[in-house]
Amino acid sequence: MKSQERLLMRALRREKTERTPVWLMRQAGRYLPEYREVRRQAGGFMEMIREPKYAAEVTIQPIRRYGMDAAILFSDILVPLEAMGMKLVFDDHGPSLPIPVRDRKAIDALHVVDPAQTMGYVGEALRLTRAGLPDETTLLGFCGAPFTLASYAVEGGTSKQFSFLRKMMYLDFASYSALMDKLAAQVVAHMKYQVASGAEAVVLFDTWAGSLTRADYQKYAAPWTRRVVDGLAGVAPRVLFAGESGHFLDDLFGMGAEGVALDHRTSIRDAFERSNGRCALQGNFDPAALFASPDEVFRRTTALLDEVGGRPGHVLNLGHGVFKDTDPECVGAFVRAAKERAR
Ligand code: CP3
Repeated sequence: MKSQERLLMRALRREKTERTPVWLMRQAGRYLPEYREVRRQAGGFMEMIREPKYAAEVTIQPIRRYGMDAAILFSDILVPLEAMGMKLVFDDHGPSLPIPVRDRKAIDALHVVDPAQTMGYVGEALRLTRAGLPDETTLLGFCGAPFTLASYAVEGGTSKQFSFLRKMMYLDFASYSALMDKLAAQVVAHMKYQVASGAEAVVLFDTWAGSLTRADYQKYAAPWTRRVVDGLAGVAPRVLFAGESGHFLDDLFGMGAEGVALDHRTSIRDAFERSNGRCALQGNFDPAALFASPDEVFRRTTALLDEVGGRPGHVLNLGHGVFKDTDPECVGAFVRAAKERAR
């Protein structure tokens, strides 16, 4: 089978497909007992990411169990920050960067690096994954968007208020721009490296962009997202995810990416109207609705597909990642609903 014939790739081109392709953000993860077993063997999360045989195994696990139409590389958006020179730690509380980047000197000390030299395990994991995947499964690469990466680099971890980042944005725009320039260059290099290693399409995660007003999004985040999107033109189809971004969806639709991911607060039917054929749409089942019974998940997924009504260019997914205490049966019901519903 030629890669351009894969279902997900056709949907990203907004072609009519025999059914809606489906995958889930965070489909590889702690809700799966087989993931927890590999994590135990590996001894930790970063150990899994850095060892291609573990990374490939957990990437393939959900495909083996459920047969989603895409597998997403097992890694993390923060890995490139480590390669650029930051210390990165994952523990039970999530990620932290104990020496955050808060002034010009620290920003100047970050290096845009060659991914093949510094993150070879990523390319190796992609090659091993491709070799282990069914032919019809699309392999996705990903990166964090510059704004979300900056939030981690400057805050030193996950944040609610982004106080340090906001101060840098508003009070020292020259330093902020210098940081964003480096991050955008690193993201483009990392995505190109992933495509060269076998990723067929790429997802750009801007998890925290929705914390900005539309005007601030346009000034402080969009220019660098656009630089990444432009830098990957013709390299591979690009899917843009921005969390809680209903108030600037039109900016996302106009970015030039092939796909835009919607969170569950957005009406997917409205989004189809507003996007008006400019891009494919991914989403947007509420990840917390996976806590309902498998039958109810099946019904709600079917209802979402009915709402889309067979419009071309839909990729069924969640509005955000799978929660770790999700019942694996409910993920099964979600995937089954897509597969049983022929258009
Ligand atoms: O299956 C997949 O989606 C592929 C792998 C993947 C992970 N992280 C693995 C992971 C992807 C695509 C990401 C992206 C990511 N990482 C984002 C953007 C997407 C989003 O969720 O908005 C962000 C913000 C991060 C940063 C990050 N990594 C946080 C905040 C956390 C802690 C929260 C948590 O869920 O534990 C992580 C850890 C992480 N990344 C886990 C996984 C499977 C859990 C690690 C574990 O096994 O303990």
